[in-house]
Amino acid sequence: MSPIRVGILTVSDRSFRGERPDASGPALETAVNELTWQVIWRDILPDEFTLLRDFLAQKADENQIDLLLTTGGTGVAPRDITPEATQAVVQRLAPGLAEAMRAESLKITPHAMLSRGVAGIRARTLIINLPGSPKAALEQLAVIVPALPHAVQLLRDDTQAEQGHSLSPVVA
Ligand code: MTE
Repeated sequence: MSPIRVGILTVSDRSFRGERPDASGPALETAVNELTWQVIWRDILPDEFTLLRDFLAQKADENQIDLLLTTGGTGVAPRDITPEATQAVVQRLAPGLAEAMRAESLKITPHAMLSRGVAGIRARTLIINLPGSPKAALEQLAVIVPALPHAVQLLRDDTQAEQGHSLSPVVA
């Protein structure tokens, strides 16, 4: 299977305005590289519903990436709208991913229940909302990594996908 192609989007008003360095985007990029997956692009947007919705739709429709990881804007602050923008563009939800991330994260912090992140599919791209802090984003990514290669095989309609049903070591 060719490497999983990943887009990483930081959603943060302050990082977009340059008032706070984006720590979670680069941290996710490092993690993705360590998995020997391929970061195709990385970007930053403010917490603006329309901008975010249109960006997510465009990036999924381009069909350049398998996985679109967002970080930030999943909480309960008034401007946290990443899950709503994601829900507006996905055609099918993949609730198991968000359920697993929250369940495992609850073992680390009760604040995990404050993340409203969702996961879903648009065209052949799986969009996954991760929380905003680098620690939280990496912890939640680690939970779903074992299932992602098989998810991508299925999304690609890969004829090898049947073999992927058995849980193999995480390889690209
Ligand atoms: N999940 C994990 N695994 N580890 C964490 O430290 N922090 C939580 C939560 N999920 C956390 C976590 C906190 S403090 C918040 S407010 C929510 O994610 C939402 O974060 P966001 O608004 O930055 O997206």
